Amino acid sequence: MSYKDRLSDIKRDGSVSLTSQIVDAFAGAIADGELGPDDKLPPTRELAEIAGVNHLTAARAYRRLAELGLVTARVGQGTFVRVGAQGGAGAPAERENTDWQLYALPEQLETYGDRILAEMFRQAGRDDVIPLMVGYPADKLLPFDVLSAVTTATLSEHGSRVQQYTDIEGAPELREQIAALHRREGLSDGPDQIIVTTGARQGLTLATRAIVHPGDVAACESPTFPGSIEAIRNAGASILPVPVDDGGMDVDALESLLRRRDVRLVVFQPRLQNPTGRDLAPERRERLFELAQRYGFFILEDDVYGSLRFEGTATGPLRATLPSHVIYLSSLSKTVSPGMRLAWISASGPVLDRIVQEKRNDDMGSPTLTQLVAARFLAEGHYEPQIERSIAFYRERCDALIEAVESHLDRVATFVPPLGGGHLWLTFRDALDERDLYDAAVRQGVTFLPGGAMMPERPRATHIRLSFGYLDPDELAEGVRRLAVAVRAVRPRPRREALPIT
Ligand SMILES: Cc1ncc(COP(=O)(O)O)c(C=O)c1O
Repeated sequence: MSYKDRLSDIKRDGSVSLTSQIVDAFAGAIADGELGPDDKLPPTRELAEIAGVNHLTAARAYRRLAELGLVTARVGQGTFVRVGAQGGAGAPAERENTDWQLYALPEQLETYGDRILAEMFRQAGRDDVIPLMVGYPADKLLPFDVLSAVTTATLSEHGSRVQQYTDIEGAPELREQIAALHRREGLSDGPDQIIVTTGARQGLTLATRAIVHPGDVAACESPTFPGSIEAIRNAGASILPVPVDDGGMDVDALESLLRRRDVRLVVFQPRLQNPTGRDLAPERRERLFELAQRYGFFILEDDVYGSLRFEGTATGPLRATLPSHVIYLSSLSKTVSPGMRLAWISASGPVLDRIVQEKRNDDMGSPTLTQLVAARFLAEGHYEPQIERSIAFYRERCDALIEAVESHLDRVATFVPPLGGGHLWLTFRDALDERDLYDAAVRQGVTFLPGGAMMPERPRATHIRLSFGYLDPDELAEGVRRLAVAVRAVRPRPRREALPIT
């Protein structure tokens, strides 16, 4: 009897479970050689139909066969007889075999932004490519000696307290120091309005989750930091992109969305935006405040790059003008230490309690030791000189990158000079396929961040982000030279075909 006949002849008298009968049918077919190494098994839906069982039972049977080392799942391809399954040779010991997990885990929902961020983390520290993609600050900028002395002093001051949980909202000393930092920016938040987060990335997650639920609508700038897009998507909200130009977010475009959709949250960076390095124009700021009050939505003001200004006059944070609607987010990552994973939110009103609740549910507080180290670092006055060093450091690299782009890519791409931050946003005059360009760049030994990963919608032109905070000026110049070789190797496509990597 073939295994398909056995499957269609399953007994329903309850003496042997349906799952076991399916498992036995396949195990028998493998043992008899009816199914050989690498033979494909029917997809679970087809198996469910043949055997007259529901889809979950079919999936459970494949999970059990995988646990037995008889079959293996290949992502996106299906389930196959494992090589060596007949004799048992080659199959891992049952207790070490993890194949079953692919049947037990939910369908993978990894997005383009997720994949690109993972790629960025893999590239830092590699010496076979020049990673213009990586948006880290360079190690040599970070104040290792100071942090090491501050850590020693913190350990001797606080002793075993550093090992203990601290307040969910953050260690009181650090919140005091952040409040003092805020006062210098014109923000009047007291320590009680501040919540310490594990990086601004967690801040994006917590604030977004506190405000939008599945089915709600949030808007964000396009292009933007991929983590902002992911935070909205992971909260289950629909995402509306708002275009950005050299005056920051296009507030007229936002208004036309507000007229049609019930937008609860707008996530954006009014100062030194990643990737454009531009500010929100003053007339747009005023208009945005009006709209927020008229339509009643929250603004999540991501100010991670706000202190890294080399050009133009700094305007204060939006929160200083409209604290009832604006939630402020900043971080120590781009200037002091991304490895400390320390950032903070300030907010007022009921949304503050909701964010604290999200923080409690997420990780019950950020690490005590790093918070106390950061508090001492700020209290001892190391922050301002570090910001000054950072500005000079980033500015020198920005100039080097712009010079290289002007000499090697001037004919093919345009940009608006950033006012600060860590990135340069290029737009190609002719549309290119992002994937072809990326592959050609890797062959030349250089990488960039593809524009499509920074936009929630399909881009209409080809853009790339080049970061300048991580590499030395000579590496930036060589990276751009290699990139120009890659661009020449890729043929322009008709405009409508400027597809992102999907
Ligand atoms: C605009 C923006 N927001 C948030 C983050 C996340 O920063 P953190 O390292 O503090 O999590 C980044 C990091 O690159 C960023 O560019």
